[in-house]
Amino acid sequence: MSNPCKNGIVLIGFMGAGKSTVAAELGHSCRLPVIDLDQEIERRSGRTIPEIFEHSGEEAFRQSETEALRGLLDQAPLILATGGGVTGRAENWPLLRRLGRVVYLRVSWETVLLRIGSGQGRPLARDRVRLQALFEQRLPLYEEADLVIDGEGGTPASIARDILRKL
Ligand code: S3P
Repeated sequence: MSNPCKNGIVLIGFMGAGKSTVAAELGHSCRLPVIDLDQEIERRSGRTIPEIFEHSGEEAFRQSETEALRGLLDQAPLILATGGGVTGRAENWPLLRRLGRVVYLRVSWETVLLRIGSGQGRPLARDRVRLQALFEQRLPLYEEADLVIDGEGGTPASIARDILRKL
């Protein structure tokens, strides 16, 4: 059987899907570096995500997201936890696919609400009506992943095992 870690793994999905926690588990199992794209953007810019949104706007954040993806290409293979909006730009898809097998962690709207709580640190989570519209609008984009995984049926460790078994 081929090694499911070999080409790296990129986790996509909405805010609160558990991308960062599952990525940490995958990093252990695969012995690959784990990168969180939001943290990478913060590191590169020296600003927090809310600061980028507030001072430069969403479009500037999206541009930083694409540039951070490009900047990671020479570090592949790796385990990458992306931000929930990374699938919105068509130009990001070939980058995501070069960084690893793209895995969608699927969770329900109810789970998103429970997990994001007050939305602290997530500028797009403040307005719940717009957030739900965004959730519904993005679902078909996430389905373009190489693999779709139930992101609420277990612990981060069991979800990571599920990914490795199915890849
Ligand atoms: C965003 C999700 C966030 C972060 C930014 C925008 C989005 O990441 O990238 O606030 O557009 O869904 P998480 O999915 O890790 O919360």
